[in-house]
Amino acid sequence: PLISSTQMLQTARKNKYAVAAFNVHTLEMLQAVVEAAEETQSPLIIQSTVGTVKHLGPDYIAAAATVAANRTGLPIALHLDHCTDFPLLVQCIRAGYTSVMIDASMHPYEENVARTSKVMEIAAAAGVNVEAELGKVGGVEDDIVVDERDALLADPQECLQFVERTGVNTLAPAIGTAHGIYKGDPNIDFARIGEIASLIGTPLVLHGGSGIPADQVKRAVSLGMAKMNIATELRIAFSDAIKDVFALNPEENDPRKYMVPAKEAVKRLAIEKMQLCGCIGKA
Ligand code: 13P
Ligand code: ZN
Ligand code: NA
Repeated sequence: PLISSTQMLQTARKNKYAVAAFNVHTLEMLQAVVEAAEETQSPLIIQSTVGTVKHLGPDYIAAAATVAANRTGLPIALHLDHCTDFPLLVQCIRAGYTSVMIDASMHPYEENVARTSKVMEIAAAAGVNVEAELGKVGGVEDDIVVDERDALLADPQECLQFVERTGVNTLAPAIGTAHGIYKGDPNIDFARIGEIASLIGTPLVLHGGSGIPADQVKRAVSLGMAKMNIATELRIAFSDAIKDVFALNPEENDPRKYMVPAKEAVKRLAIEKMQLCGCIGKA
């Protein structure tokens, strides 16, 4: 069965590695990250955005993720990424999601506390992990668009209060990363990560994983980031492999002929990211 990510991420935080969390959009992408985890004996978080939940259906996604967990015997959690929609979040928990992110970071602090607490009430009863965001991660993720100028770093004291008031299991503090590929290098505030981690033992979540240079990922993980989200780079790897097939053979009409290389490309990239996270062999 799928497991909650709470224990998995607490263990990761304690042992200074991160679990890679991959946003998937198709069955092949899901299978690719599962194969990567199986080959490397890594714990795994499979994630879907609200847009993908609407596209595929939470029950289809949960069914495929459950098959993955049961077939491999690996610790696998299924997470709902950046959800702002309470009824959809409840629907995902009912469908079998074992972790959810309530993203109320666009609201004022008190409203974020209230919305997160409301989700905690129902999730805790279901044994489901809850992630919340403080500050604002910049860039574009699904339907959530945050202009660079509106991105806001999380305040360490606010993080401490937030965790105490909501009891949230995992926290995504904005520390300078952004969704999508960076123009140049990201401007990560490592001192801030260290400060937040010194105040709270809660596993921290690194959003905007695509495009962060390897040494910076490792540094962020060593400071307390226990989960790294990767979305854009996986989509690019998947799509580029398909484009390559059609560039060579525009008449191709057997989906397996382009899905197999696309799946392989995602699997390769997933293993690279798992290496950076340090989660290989931790299953
Ligand atoms: P990237 O698209 O930069 O990998 O960000 C992923 C993410 O944070 C998903 O929540
Ligand atoms: Zn994110
Ligand atoms: Na990014």
